[in-house]
Amino acid sequence: MPRIANSIVRRAYAQDPLLPALLGVCRDLSLAANELRWLREHVDELPLAPAPRPLNTSTRRKKRIPNNDKHRLRKIKEAKLRDLVKQRSRGTPLQYLLGTEFFGELELKCGRGVLVPRQDTASTIAHLARLIRDPRNTLPNELRVLDLCTGTGCIPFLFGHELRETRHDISYRMLGVDVSTDALTLATKNLRRFQRKPSSSNLFNTSTTEAKDDGEREDGHNAKGAKVLANFMWADILNSPFEPQIENTPLPLMSAMNLARHPPFWDIVISNPPYISPDAYRKTTARSVRGFEPRLALVPPHPSTIPSSISTGVGSYTTSWPEKTIDTITQDAGDTFYVPILNIAAQVEAKVVLVEVADVEQAVRVARLGENFGFEGVEIWRDRPDDTDEAFPSSPSSPYPKQHSQDSSPGITKKRETKESKNDIPIVGAGNVRCVVFWRGNTGAAWLGKETQNDSILRSESHAMQPSMSRTDKFDGRYHADALLLASKWKGL
Ligand SMILES: C[S@@+](CC[C@H](N)C(=O)[O-])C[C@H]1O[C@@H](n2cnc3c(N)ncnc32)[C@H](O)[C@@H]1O
Repeated sequence: MPRIANSIVRRAYAQDPLLPALLGVCRDLSLAANELRWLREHVDELPLAPAPRPLNTSTRRKKRIPNNDKHRLRKIKEAKLRDLVKQRSRGTPLQYLLGTEFFGELELKCGRGVLVPRQDTASTIAHLARLIRDPRNTLPNELRVLDLCTGTGCIPFLFGHELRETRHDISYRMLGVDVSTDALTLATKNLRRFQRKPSSSNLFNTSTTEAKDDGEREDGHNAKGAKVLANFMWADILNSPFEPQIENTPLPLMSAMNLARHPPFWDIVISNPPYISPDAYRKTTARSVRGFEPRLALVPPHPSTIPSSISTGVGSYTTSWPEKTIDTITQDAGDTFYVPILNIAAQVEAKVVLVEVADVEQAVRVARLGENFGFEGVEIWRDRPDDTDEAFPSSPSSPYPKQHSQDSSPGITKKRETKESKNDIPIVGAGNVRCVVFWRGNTGAAWLGKETQNDSILRSESHAMQPSMSRTDKFDGRYHADALLLASKWKGL
């Protein structure tokens, strides 16, 4: 890494004696100045008052902070700021120090032990929500979004936030799943924060009867008419129900969903799973990420450590299995989560699936898995899927390695073809390759605005389907019967 010129260090010191300490980590004077400003504002807002003096209850005079207390308070704040600058200079992510980060338009709590949400993820999630919320789309009465590997809960929160911009006619149910209790604690804090906020953000309720805050009606519908249900659940998506369960460890997803009486069918499955191979983690992941963000969130376990029915999908609920085996498609140590995720998506009968990936090679491997799970359409999205033709700079902001990727040089501006594909898989948008999107059936295709030969028929079919798309207990009951049948077949009963 090039050394910072002395003249810049001197300029920084002249601006503020605390600034030079931030130059190493920020590599840029204006960025360092911004970070210092944010840290200072953060300290100013901290409730760092000196110990309160006993109140004189006999007078109603306005309480003034005595001068020596003001001085003490200033000293406490200066010490706090110095401490934060020191931590930042050692590489602690700014978001852990400030305690929040923006994800799209939403400000979310974040903290140590949980991955900091990335704006690159936010842009693809917002794009998906904008496609789905298109007023021409007929959506089920309750749109269900399952987020696997939820972390702070950023994905389902943003999806719901974007959805309700235009779709007040439907309800929204979200379920975020994670194996980490730190992540679930943070996601739940974020949920409570949204629930406390005034009606504009007051979207997320854990049950239909709790919704009585400002802007909410008693029946759980928000002021704009859409009912929103939000939940987080502790579960391990790499755990198999057919293996002995260990006490005090998270249950397999489907078992946990049944136990918590969550519905078995979900319209959309989204996941930003751990996807960096151990090798890439060692060699290409930024030191600041490796040193401070949880490895659990970034690197999948070795496939040999998880049940083979999970790593290969063979012997799971998936009924049809083509000649092509998973082994011939996916061979990278970073790919462990994709088969289990697609398998879950197939089980919950998702019509649309979005999974984040590291680079174009991983995207192609993952895209090729889709047909094994009954997905009929697939597309690779870049960071800005709605950007079509201008030259684009590849984003330097992602913490993930872009090894082997055609986009591997951050900051370099390239000219991109408007219509692109790799191995016949369409790649859309601008920026780095970010995710793979699958869809199934007329409904999935219509929601993503995919033109098909019988597109006009699709739209009218989709409208005609609406009554049967609002699920009933009978519908869910049928699933349980199917699941039991399949489970008993699997066990050879
Ligand atoms: C890359 S982070 C994504 C977090 C969040 N969705 C985001 O975009 O910022 C991956 C998450 O997967 C969780 N995770 C790791 N292994 C898991 C498993 N076996 N089952 C469920 N979640 C898991 C981690 O705890 C972590 O929160």
